[in-house]
Amino acid sequence: MGKKAMLKSLTVIFLILGFCYVSVASELRKNGERKTYIVHMAKSEMPASFDDHTTWYHASLTSVSDSAEMLYTYNNVLHGFSTRLTAEEAQSLENQPGILSVLPELKYELHTTRTPEFLGLDKSADLFPESDSLSEVIIGILDTGIWPESKSFDDTGLGPVPSSWKGQCEVGTNFTTSNCNRKLIGARFFSRGYEATLGPIDESKESKSPRDDDGHGTHTSTTAGGSVVTGASLFGYASGTARGMATRARIAAYKVCWIGGCFSSDILAAMDKAIYDNVNVLSMSLGGGMSDYYRDSVAIGAFAAMEKGILVSCSAGNAGPSSYSLSNVAPWITTVGAGTLDRDFPAFVSLGNGLNYSGVSLYRGELLPSKMLPFVYAGNASNVTNGNLCMMGTLISEKVSGKIVLCDRGVNARVQKGAVVKAAGGVGMVLANTAANGEELVADAHLLPATTVGQKSGDAIKSYLFSDSNPTATILFEGTKVGIEPSPVVAAFSSRGPNSITPEILKPDVIAPGVNIIAGWSGSVGPTGLAIDTRRVGFNIISGTSMSCPHVSGLAALLKAAHPDWSPAAIRSALMTTANIACKNGEMIQDVATGKPSTPFDHGAGHVDPVSALNPGLVYDLNISDYVNFLCALNYTTSQINSVARKNFTCDSSKQYSVTDLNYPSFAIPLQAALTGGNSGGTTVVKHTRTLTNVGLPATYKVTVHSQTESVKISVVPDTLSFTQQNEKKSYTVTFTAGSMPANTNSFARIEWSDGKHINETLVVVFDVVL
Ligand SMILES: *[C@@H]1O[C@H](CO)[C@@H](O)[C@H](O)[C@H]1NC(C)=O
Ligand SMILES: *[C@@H]1O[C@H](CO)[C@@H](O)[C@H](O)[C@H]1NC(C)=O
Ligand SMILES: *[C@@H]1O[C@H](CO)[C@@H](O)[C@H](O)[C@H]1NC(C)=O
Ligand SMILES: *[C@@H]1O[C@H](CO)[C@@H](O)[C@H](O)[C@H]1NC(C)=O
Ligand SMILES: *[C@@H]1O[C@H](CO)[C@@H](O)[C@H](O)[C@H]1NC(C)=O
Ligand SMILES: *[C@@H]1O[C@H](CO)[C@@H](O)[C@H](O)[C@H]1NC(C)=O
Ligand SMILES: *[C@@H]1O[C@H](CO)[C@@H](O)[C@H](O)[C@H]1NC(C)=O
Ligand SMILES: *[C@@H]1O[C@H](CO)[C@@H](O)[C@H](O)[C@H]1NC(C)=O
Repeated sequence: MGKKAMLKSLTVIFLILGFCYVSVASELRKNGERKTYIVHMAKSEMPASFDDHTTWYHASLTSVSDSAEMLYTYNNVLHGFSTRLTAEEAQSLENQPGILSVLPELKYELHTTRTPEFLGLDKSADLFPESDSLSEVIIGILDTGIWPESKSFDDTGLGPVPSSWKGQCEVGTNFTTSNCNRKLIGARFFSRGYEATLGPIDESKESKSPRDDDGHGTHTSTTAGGSVVTGASLFGYASGTARGMATRARIAAYKVCWIGGCFSSDILAAMDKAIYDNVNVLSMSLGGGMSDYYRDSVAIGAFAAMEKGILVSCSAGNAGPSSYSLSNVAPWITTVGAGTLDRDFPAFVSLGNGLNYSGVSLYRGELLPSKMLPFVYAGNASNVTNGNLCMMGTLISEKVSGKIVLCDRGVNARVQKGAVVKAAGGVGMVLANTAANGEELVADAHLLPATTVGQKSGDAIKSYLFSDSNPTATILFEGTKVGIEPSPVVAAFSSRGPNSITPEILKPDVIAPGVNIIAGWSGSVGPTGLAIDTRRVGFNIISGTSMSCPHVSGLAALLKAAHPDWSPAAIRSALMTTANIACKNGEMIQDVATGKPSTPFDHGAGHVDPVSALNPGLVYDLNISDYVNFLCALNYTTSQINSVARKNFTCDSSKQYSVTDLNYPSFAIPLQAALTGGNSGGTTVVKHTRTLTNVGLPATYKVTVHSQTESVKISVVPDTLSFTQQNEKKSYTVTFTAGSMPANTNSFARIEWSDGKHINETLVVVFDVVL
């Protein structure tokens, strides 16, 4: 770098620093402004002079601020309240007696049906519980609300609302009590935290009521528990019968997500009510940045729910295929990744050189003229450096008018790219994956004739575009195709392990269908969700771990109905130990991001198999004390433990706690950590104990270890477990002996308990070698 250039860049740096300095200063000034805090109180420390806890909460608050408003008080998820405080007030409140923690609010985001057949639910209806017991199960959904007019909420044939139900149908903009029925038994909305931060809800854009103006909440709710609707389709695509996983379960909607996001004070208030209302399953297709469990509202609320016997199913996130990209990893949450179905929506690109490339699309409307059309790469039709992405206002009309335009995937919404091409005068679009998405094909209901192609096809099409002086193309739509093999494969977007908070707990737990899923939709928006999309549809096809999570929520409802006495941990164990790691064609499930077999960091225990999960034989159960011991093993302080567990728990200082003692249905062993506790002679020996509970008939199980590696030896003692009665518990110990392993390698194994007849236990084992 020349001296002059250096000086110039120094100046620039100086200016940037100066700017930062100014903004830091204004940040400091802003500290006088209020933010939302969630205040956890140690209820057991309430002074005797108070006769109820709310007066005590108010007194604590007024001791630091006489003007702060109380947004919510919480009774079930935690003892405490949320309020607006300055940073100074928050700090002085934290030092008051009886305060466990004062945590700043976090913002969460949404993790944006042929499924029943794919999961084998159609052929085995008789295996599932009588509709009477299923209709006692209530699934609570925290999301963008509900479109009650959806046909999926038809309550024909359902008996009275379960007597356990204590919830409400809350009245608000365009929503009355008559919008609830025997299927949609409750609907509430939570906006105080949102409005305290972002100002009053703009009712010209979204309803201040449980009404869903986004579509996401209606989609997730109807996936979990929608009634059977015949003749469902999106513009004729995926036509057939749409139904949720648990068609006779009841739905309760808790609207916590608004245009600007989902705020933790509202999420906690909704979970607080859902626990009070007596839901049996909570489905949450949202997530936020990763933080320790005592700071994470979803983890805190889920702990209270778990203690009440409510299974909490959450999406793993859409930040894949990078490692360590998971959300919602607390061991008392069921964390769900996404796989594909055996259904596709093919739409071919045919090039002027005679070659064809297959893609996918949900476009319906006027087709392209039946001749080859001029074809251009967006990067060659724009003056900006990222012109290839087709961002708003970046295409030069003269260069795209009347042409098909190739845009690269990434940054802005896929459907928006189509809208940008259309606005600039383009007549069609080819959307090409880049390395981030590989060969994963997500179909969209584009506003113009368009198809999405994988990275390999995209690269081939680009080399044609760059080498031909007069490139041409056309797009041919072929409707819906089923029976696609291999399926399932792990979606590239599905977030991956290892678990960044507790690497010893393998996450995700399972995968379920999350690509191109059809379910109910809101009448307020079109299928693309774009403001310019004036189309209205009863069903929409969208993708994300947001879609896989409610599949597992619905399956958990089925299992709860079949086994009302099972704990959330037992239900999750049944789903995990019976999950498939092979496709229907017998080959190992693949990762679409690599084209190679997927690993437990991608698929957890595997793809859910609900029919097998009904009768797992054995389960790994967990109760509240097990989870508190786990928190002790994390070396959390008493305040941190009680922020999660609410009661006055203390760890026994004479006891040795270990994270790996948690009776989880999988093992994850970070070898580096293990090595520090092992001997220094090159081999590491780690022993773990697990306890199985018999939930089947009396039987004798024998163990088989399937290992892919020579460098780690696995032995199990005893190798036979005999159960003579129901609910009997038996333990076994696994010894892992690791020799020297190459750095940064992972190896995987399975421990299988089988009774030799029909029950087959598979346990995932992972070694995460970080040396
Ligand atoms: C919490 O438990 C500890 C140990 O059992 C006890 O010493 C302490 O007094 C308890 N605190 C309250 C407020 O009950
Ligand atoms: C109210 O809901 C109906 C559907 O029931 C819808 O047609 C109408 O546009 C909605 N009105 C507002 C203001 O959102
Ligand atoms: C490409 O697809 C079109 C339409 O399906 C077909 O007519 C043509 O033969 C195909 N060409 C090749 C090379 O596969
Ligand atoms: C079009 O863009 C590609 C990639 O950016 C570039 O290699 C090529 O030279 C461009 N073609 C024209 C005609 O500008
Ligand atoms: C793009 O660049 C060309 C040549 O540099 C210029 O003539 C044209 O006006 C620019 N167009 C836009 C939309 O900026
Ligand atoms: C939880 O389970 C453990 C081990 O099975 C048992 O020792 C303990 O008593 C149980 N605790 C509760 C509160 O049920
Ligand atoms: C907790 O502290 C113990 C003793 O210092 C240590 O051995 C252990 O690794 C710590 N556990 C975690 C999860 O940090
Ligand atoms: C258990 O599952 C494995 C595949 O995971 C299969 O090879 C084996 O035959 C099964 N055993 C029994 C007893 O069903």
